[in-house]
Amino acid sequence: MTTDPTGLHLETLAIGYGYDPAQHQGSAKPPLFLTSTFVYPSAQIAKDAHRVFFNGPVDGEPAGAYIYSRLNHPNLDMVEKRLAVIDGAEDCAAFSSGMAALSTTLMTLLRPGDSMVYSRPIYSGTDGLMNGHLTDYGIKPFGITVAVDRANVQAAVDLALKAGPLTVMMIESPANPTGATADIAMIRAIADEVGAKTGFRPIVVVDNTFLGPLLQSPLKHGADLTMTSLTKYCGGHSDLLAGSVSGDAALVRRLKQRRTTFGCHLDPHTSWLMLRSLETLSLRTERSCSNAAAIARFLADHPKVRAVTYLGFLPEGSPARAVYDRQCKGAGSTFSFKIKGGEAEAFRMLDRVRLAKMAVSLGGAETLICHSATTTHYAVPQAQREEVGIDDGTIRISVGLEHIDDLIADLSQALEAV
Ligand SMILES: Cc1ncc(COP(=O)(O)O)c(C=O)c1O
Repeated sequence: MTTDPTGLHLETLAIGYGYDPAQHQGSAKPPLFLTSTFVYPSAQIAKDAHRVFFNGPVDGEPAGAYIYSRLNHPNLDMVEKRLAVIDGAEDCAAFSSGMAALSTTLMTLLRPGDSMVYSRPIYSGTDGLMNGHLTDYGIKPFGITVAVDRANVQAAVDLALKAGPLTVMMIESPANPTGATADIAMIRAIADEVGAKTGFRPIVVVDNTFLGPLLQSPLKHGADLTMTSLTKYCGGHSDLLAGSVSGDAALVRRLKQRRTTFGCHLDPHTSWLMLRSLETLSLRTERSCSNAAAIARFLADHPKVRAVTYLGFLPEGSPARAVYDRQCKGAGSTFSFKIKGGEAEAFRMLDRVRLAKMAVSLGGAETLICHSATTTHYAVPQAQREEVGIDDGTIRISVGLEHIDDLIADLSQALEAV
């Protein structure tokens, strides 16, 4: 579903696409529209704007006038146009956070009694949404443990089909924080088979947060919707919360209508900041990826470290490696490693880190580091997190843009405390 109308590279589109100075008095950069409502030029234009928003445009009719900022506003339009082209999608909906994007998507696609499958491990917020909230509405989620293995995916799908109409296949790839990959094309093929058998093809949703839109394009591999927590790499400075979902125009329109009801659109100021952040996404991606590769090598050789789950280290010839080579354009810059020992040893190292900041989240300019079991995966029962490879010695690092020598010196002195 690539709909790039320009033939330009993603790096170029990320800088200017979706904003035309000629429509804004020549202003080189986008103005910020701090308004909650819009004045209609005439009653007929007001009526048409509502018709287009609620019923959809007729035969290529242009978007209607702006109505009210919870429905739409110019800064939201600009950021959605740019994200859609970067994701290779017909349209994009931007939200007030990644979780707002996921909640709106799942609550739009699922009905009481439906079942869904999801890849494990998955971000704990997504896990809580599915297993702690959607179950209250009668939705039945089933986990896939090895999402590069057809038989494993099929087994979860068979369970889900017995429990109710299988409506959604929710994939996070690579997964947080283990880097587990899911084969999007294979999962789409299974969705197609389910569709042929039952008359309803499940919608494939991919959370692309861990790599972001420049390093992986889920729609090209068969996903229907690609979701990103823009809070991470796209925002890139750990100073805002935002999320997006891109895909086919009719599906995204349904999400925008539900977003209007939930009231979780992206506000003008954050939309403006996001447009600005996207301009440097490719440069930040290059630098953080090269820093991460060097740190992964340093950790892999370190005597106090027993494992590094960096995507670039996936063994040649393994199914995960084949998926990674086909699906991903780079290994990204967030990964986990395991200290020799458990919680006490991990805490000793974390308390000695000076340059990297001990915090959850990822994708900012600064390096962030945290102990997975007691922070991001605090709410996940021990047996479940250990089953997917997160033990008490697991530390997640989101490598930033600092000078590599300073980062390695900091980690090196911190590891002496283990
Ligand atoms: C993979 C993944 N998906 C979704 C989210 C939720 O995004 P947000 O914090 O912007 O709501 C996160 C947040 O950490 C995440 O890591």
